[in-house]
Amino acid sequence: MLTAIYSVEDARRIARLKMPKLVFDYIDGAAGDEGANLRNQRSLNQIKLLPRVLVNVDEKQLTKKCLNHQWGLPFGIAPMGMCNLAHPKGDRLLAQAATRLNIPHCLSTMSSSSIEDVGKWANGNAWFQLYMGQSEEQAMSLVERARKAGYQNLILTVDVPEVAPRRRDMRNGFKSPLKIGPRQFLDFALHPLWSIPTLVAGAPSLGNFAEGEFDRDAKRGLADWHFLDRLRTEWQGKLIVKGVLSPEDAVRIRDAGVDGIYVSNHGGRQLGSAPAAIEQLPKIRKAVGDELCLIFDSGVRDGEGVVKALAMGADFVMLGRSLSYGMGANGEEGLNQVLDLIINEIQLTLAQLGCADIEQIGPQMLVE
Ligand SMILES: Cc1cc2nc3c(=O)[nH]c(=O)nc-3n(C[C@H](O)[C@H](O)[C@H](O)COP(=O)(O)O)c2cc1C
Repeated sequence: MLTAIYSVEDARRIARLKMPKLVFDYIDGAAGDEGANLRNQRSLNQIKLLPRVLVNVDEKQLTKKCLNHQWGLPFGIAPMGMCNLAHPKGDRLLAQAATRLNIPHCLSTMSSSSIEDVGKWANGNAWFQLYMGQSEEQAMSLVERARKAGYQNLILTVDVPEVAPRRRDMRNGFKSPLKIGPRQFLDFALHPLWSIPTLVAGAPSLGNFAEGEFDRDAKRGLADWHFLDRLRTEWQGKLIVKGVLSPEDAVRIRDAGVDGIYVSNHGGRQLGSAPAAIEQLPKIRKAVGDELCLIFDSGVRDGEGVVKALAMGADFVMLGRSLSYGMGANGEEGLNQVLDLIINEIQLTLAQLGCADIEQIGPQMLVE
């Protein structure tokens, strides 16, 4: 089996061979005809950066300030539900990587492990991502748990008023908790490298809820402007709103007093005909001004992608599927290989741009 990982695409290919189709498709898939996911990557690929020469770039600085904190790198880990499907210890591996690299790890409401456990594993690097589920009270009780567990940054995800149809999941009969009929059983049996460790660890479930307490497929449209105001009043830490693509929304969210806006199209997993998130980023930067912290994700698959997002107006970048592919391909080693690869690519990109400090990346490095 191919095991060397020289790119995120290599990790994706290995993960695809190892994982049951149902699991790989849950991670890899997107909404509708998957156009938004393709557009994310295509648009990032089309951005060109201008090499500069004769600058001493022997010593490079990759540390990045975001939300009043000095992070070890310019990127962190995007919130992803059910990470223990990628690897039985998925949440834990991500939290430990975050601690090792001094980067943020955004824990999803729909994580496989609890807010409290991940808070300990991530050692102060965990941010909590909130979905408004069945009720405002349920959401606020999660917020209270995050506060008690010492989380300082809260991300409210607002681009899932309803869960978009993911056709691969529908075809594969993907359900949470997993429902195992004959087709799924065969899929698992054909992928023992995934199934045996997962079976030994026990089928992943939602770490923050008792069974049946949070319905993944239920509507999540209760999050509105009123709820944002309530959160702003009651949450004393940093507040970030995730899933913003409209400059007009961004201005109103800024005016509601948030600390940051997270520009994202959910990796193309929500509105199939959404624009590439990277195309909206400079428009949102222009609309909200230079001061507000902008975080970006959707489609980043390499170190150049991280640098491009910074050049397009982001203060910080999050990686989603790239890390799940790494874990799916080869557990902790695969995750670390992907992380090292991306870090190395960022350094190489800085060298080519004649830029020794990641803080100096800006639109002047883009080619029109
Ligand atoms: C398997 C999976 C689960 C996700 N679960 C969540 C989630 O629970 N909450 C959330 O805000 N975003 C979730 N996302 C979206 C990610 O936070 C992020 O926006 C997206 O993965 C970025 O796109 P990329 O994977 O192409 O980099 C999920 C994405 C994936 C791939």
